[in-house]
Amino acid sequence: MEKSERAGVSVRELRDRCSAELGHALEAELMIAHGLGRNRAWLYAHLDDPVDEVDAIQALIERRRDGEPVAYILGRREFYGRDFVVTPDVLIPRPETELLIDLALELPLPDNARALDIGTGTGCIALTLSAERPGWTVMASDISSRALEVARRNRQRLGLDRVELFQADVYPSSDSLDLNLIVTNPPYINEKDHHLNEGDVRFEPRTALTPGADGLDVIRRIVDTAPRHLVTGGWLLIEHGHDQGAAVAGLLRGHGLTDVRTRPDLAGLDRVTMGALRSE
Ligand SMILES: C[S@@+](CC[C@H](N)C(=O)[O-])C[C@H]1O[C@@H](n2cnc3c(N)ncnc32)[C@H](O)[C@@H]1O
Repeated sequence: MEKSERAGVSVRELRDRCSAELGHALEAELMIAHGLGRNRAWLYAHLDDPVDEVDAIQALIERRRDGEPVAYILGRREFYGRDFVVTPDVLIPRPETELLIDLALELPLPDNARALDIGTGTGCIALTLSAERPGWTVMASDISSRALEVARRNRQRLGLDRVELFQADVYPSSDSLDLNLIVTNPPYINEKDHHLNEGDVRFEPRTALTPGADGLDVIRRIVDTAPRHLVTGGWLLIEHGHDQGAAVAGLLRGHGLTDVRTRPDLAGLDRVTMGALRSE
């Protein structure tokens, strides 16, 4: 929007102009609401109000036009019905990952289960499990100290101080952690995959997306040591790429896990593979 067009503009006019600029009405409303420190419902109730913050809102629109993800501009993203702080130091929580939560909550685990989330990022998986199952002891690890700082902020905002956060390469201990559940959405994209350089993904931290040339490297390390950390009857749940289901299932079986199965996400793509540690 030209400077001359900005004077005395109303919420309605600003919304219409920004929608046209972005070609996306919802995103325009989210940017305007964020710039005004309000929510979208407020916008609808104040369509004829004049806007003073036009320059600041225009700056947000330009960031979006340059491709920056909405979640980084707004600094938040909803996951499993809760609001999470999101910065460029963490992966933006995906709706597909809610499948991991659903599957974990369906398992026949004790009320005082011990759970570990590996590669916690925002903390969305660990904090959601703790909120949904207050009796569980939930731990989370991440190799990135910056990601853990974001997880700490989310832990505090959600009042879930009981969740323990560790900076660690995969497991926070080499001694057995006696876990009933290991859950993880690790980096699993091959570093040569062209998707890493496209869309929102190109703004996200590389360490969150790819373990290197072998997309299965971190998954393999998680599975290798899982039997040491699981109690009998404990479960391992791994989110992975749509074409990695058979490979991940093979890894789980190769390490003695049973009841191995792969579950599709809402788009029908293989997304989570799980297995249990049974006694001999
Ligand atoms: C795909 S992101 C998942 C983030 C979050 N759990 C989610 O689902 O939105 C993977 C996370 O694993 C972390 N990570 C990468 N390599 C790791 C390793 N070797 N050990 C622990 N965490 C690792 C990254 O820093 C990143 O936060």
